[in-house]
Amino acid sequence: MAAQTEVKLLNKQQAIAELKRLAKAMAEADIAYHRNDTPEISDAEYDTLKKRNEEIEALFPSLKRRDSPSDKVGAPVSSGFSKVKHAVAMMSLGNAFTDEDVADFDVRIRKFLNTSDDQLLEYTAEPKIDGLSLSLRYETGKLVQAATRGDGEVGENVTANALTLGDIPAEITGAPEILEVRGEVYMSHVDFTKLNDNQILNDSKPFANPRNAAAGSLRQLDSEITKSRPLHFFAYALGEVSEVLADTQSGLIQRLSELGFSTNPLMQICESPKDLIKHYAKIERDRATLGYDIDGVVYKVNDLALQSRLGFRTNTPRWAIAHKFPAELAQTIIEDIEIQVGRTGALSPVARLKPVTVGGVVVSNATLHNEDYIAGRDSFGKPIRDGRDIRIGDWVTVYRAGDVIPKIKDVDLSRRKINSQLYVFPSICPECGSDAIREEGEAVARCTGGLICPAQAVEKLKHFVSKAAFDIDGLGAKQIETFYMDQWVKAPADIFTLNDRIGSGNLQQLQNFEGWGAKSAQKLFDAIKSKEHISLNRLIFALGIRHVGESSALTLARHYGSWDTFNEAMENARDHNGPDWDSLNAIDGVGGVMAATLVDYFHESKTRAALQNLVKHLQIIDVAAPTIEGSKVGGKIVVFTGTLEKMTRAEAKAKAESLGAKVSGSVSAKTDIVVAGPGAGSKRKKAEDLGVKVLSEDEWLALIG
Ligand code: IVH
Repeated sequence: MAAQTEVKLLNKQQAIAELKRLAKAMAEADIAYHRNDTPEISDAEYDTLKKRNEEIEALFPSLKRRDSPSDKVGAPVSSGFSKVKHAVAMMSLGNAFTDEDVADFDVRIRKFLNTSDDQLLEYTAEPKIDGLSLSLRYETGKLVQAATRGDGEVGENVTANALTLGDIPAEITGAPEILEVRGEVYMSHVDFTKLNDNQILNDSKPFANPRNAAAGSLRQLDSEITKSRPLHFFAYALGEVSEVLADTQSGLIQRLSELGFSTNPLMQICESPKDLIKHYAKIERDRATLGYDIDGVVYKVNDLALQSRLGFRTNTPRWAIAHKFPAELAQTIIEDIEIQVGRTGALSPVARLKPVTVGGVVVSNATLHNEDYIAGRDSFGKPIRDGRDIRIGDWVTVYRAGDVIPKIKDVDLSRRKINSQLYVFPSICPECGSDAIREEGEAVARCTGGLICPAQAVEKLKHFVSKAAFDIDGLGAKQIETFYMDQWVKAPADIFTLNDRIGSGNLQQLQNFEGWGAKSAQKLFDAIKSKEHISLNRLIFALGIRHVGESSALTLARHYGSWDTFNEAMENARDHNGPDWDSLNAIDGVGGVMAATLVDYFHESKTRAALQNLVKHLQIIDVAAPTIEGSKVGGKIVVFTGTLEKMTRAEAKAKAESLGAKVSGSVSAKTDIVVAGPGAGSKRKKAEDLGVKVLSEDEWLALIG
């Protein structure tokens, strides 16, 4: 594989091409792995592609493909087996690569559940078996169906084959009416070697690794062949069940073992991220002696009620994560440290490395994150790398952990030159010379030049015309750069006056540009004209306000409905208090930081002028709140007040909004329902005075079912 452009340096065109390439490569890899059981790339390489795809999608949300690999698990089923729709989707797991990722996992969970740091939160930690997952459905104790994961929704029916495995009981006693047991089919190292010896003797192709041997053996159309292959099964989770089996993950594993399933003996209950990492280290140490392949350690919240509260993201659970074993490491020299300036003015340091091969890929850049990271501190001032700073000329160990942009693991001080200089982070923007300031509590230094900083202005304009924003045909990153340099477009509003300034009579000017003809110029003006009609969410996203991504823009648009309402609310909230401020903060998905950034953005006088200038060229299309089929609260304005006892505020809001309700922080005549828990005060009273329906938490839960 050749050296690849760092994600941050990709322009839109390159990103489109790259996403296409990644989707194709991953689809091919999926088919090779899941369907044909002959992987063409290593797991680490696959993780690398996946991470790169995710990073590009995060940077260019609008370019996310319909067939994006990040929405997929595995490969569609092959044709040889009948299809099985899983009663409960077979999910994938999110990955952690570093100790910090594990700490973040715990922080995220505690935040979601509103659990304080000193409250005990138990996890289980167990090996991540490198095999293929299988779902076993028992009805009244009889195995009626065994299905592979397939694409997560639909798998292959391999019941006859599964019945040949010694670890899979055909019948169990004492099981609930419906019980789906999920786990991993794998082959031991010893059996793998024997099988491959046999394959060679019989002039058959040997398998690349035990996982492929297991997958290839289970997915045989003739179950006699499967029977002749020594496959094993570890049970570790449930699908559909008609009855609760246990209160905890560890209790569940115990119960599954009592029912006759093999479970992994290395599972342990841990009480903190530190404990998890300790057990991870133990499993990693023992890895080579287990006799079967594992590729990491899976952590799960032990309490099953909490698992169910935490629920799932698109295709991974919030309550579990896979801590992968590290990818490869390499040593190299930092030849230079460069500073890049982004759309929001953030100064990002990048290490230019002497090219080195890490896991089969040549790398020449590494992210250095921010000033503290270079100095050897984390964002709380605590030492990282034992406080070792990073300097130009240093020898460093770089690693790629499912990541194309490599990271720096450590600095080798023994190889540091005596005359090496401490790296001084710039206090002025390298692009425009304005002061670069780090605000209190911020890790990142930002250029204060705003639109006078060409890097920021151009990046903002590129964002404005990007796919999920105004998406103007013929006006991409390249054209924006030229138009900006020629001073034709310095602010978004200039795009809409371009025709008046250089169109018709003056068209020649544009035609003088390389690559422009009369036709393409006219096409551009038509495309711009057609985008004078723009939906509110696209407009909000296009403004490029910090923290406001595509989905937040949609949330805001759905909440406020029209530009005038939105604009007025932002203006009213300028002092960070009052009803409009409260209701902004009460929107699910809008945190305090985003609220403050938004309001301050709208309050800034130059921005206000630029906005007024822009919107006068536009017809902004209102956005309606979503209606949810069958929801009794769709479109209703709901206020939660007092203490909720069955769920956190965040959960209550998320649930209500998922049912199409609008959650507001203040009661008015427009409010439809007030859900009042104990301790509710003035809001409850106001609701009663206004004749607004007041429900207890239980009544609310009954209403939403
Ligand atoms: S729990 C909701 N536990 O890893 C998903 N999965 O990368 C629950 N895997 O699809 C999965 N060992 O095939 C779990 N101890 C373990 C596992 C494990 C291997 C596999 C499983 C899953 C994949 C995710």
